[in-house]
Amino acid sequence: MKKNKKTGDFVMKIIFHGHACFEIQADSGKIIIDPFIRNNSLAVTKVEDIKDIDAILISHGHGDHIGDAVEIAKNTGAMIIANFEIATYFEKMGLKAHAMHIGGKYAFPFGTVKLTPAIHGSGIPTRDGLHMYGGLACGFLIQLEGKWLYHAGDTGLFGDMQLIGRRYNIDVAMLPIGDNFTMGLEDALIAAQMLNPKYVIPMHFNTFPVIKQDGKSFIDLLNTTVLESKGILLEPGSSIDI
Ligand code: NI
Ligand code: MN
Repeated sequence: MKKNKKTGDFVMKIIFHGHACFEIQADSGKIIIDPFIRNNSLAVTKVEDIKDIDAILISHGHGDHIGDAVEIAKNTGAMIIANFEIATYFEKMGLKAHAMHIGGKYAFPFGTVKLTPAIHGSGIPTRDGLHMYGGLACGFLIQLEGKWLYHAGDTGLFGDMQLIGRRYNIDVAMLPIGDNFTMGLEDALIAAQMLNPKYVIPMHFNTFPVIKQDGKSFIDLLNTTVLESKGILLEPGSSIDI
């Protein structure tokens, strides 16, 4: 991975595959978060084109987050990182998994992952259309190449985001703005104020009619009200280098 010529900092690539799915490519490794691709009509990436993944991070059990994890794990040999209940579920399927839980961090060869709280469900869909227990939903703090990324998962606004913002110097925060199931625009602005990241990338919107939002107006609001943070609107399939 090339270095940023101006700052000398490492550059990593963050690719948005739509919904809550981000692929992060760094010198130290490649990870993908919440790989919901095949059944996302807005996604432009093909599941079989996702390659060389070291780890698949899953924030909770819902179908739009587990998504294509099994296929990607089988294609790439990637390890699944999730809460204990979800990790056990995938281990029973014969996949490699690393179980964690909220508040815990672990140093993997590609970087460090810490599970943060998220206020949301985590049921794993079953064939009969019901859900099995999938532990607690989480978000992720990820340290790669000296940078801190925060993927909030599916969550409502909660006051401890202030604590996360105080404790970690966040470079990029990926925040849901879709409303209905998670924070909406206004709450995501308050989240950004508490987290104080350099960049905010909105996610979890427009995938379904019920979470339709104007991403552009979120970015405009953020850039005029949270002066410490810069909003970045990524279309599915596009990326930024940081
Ligand atoms: Ni969910
Ligand atoms: Mn979701």
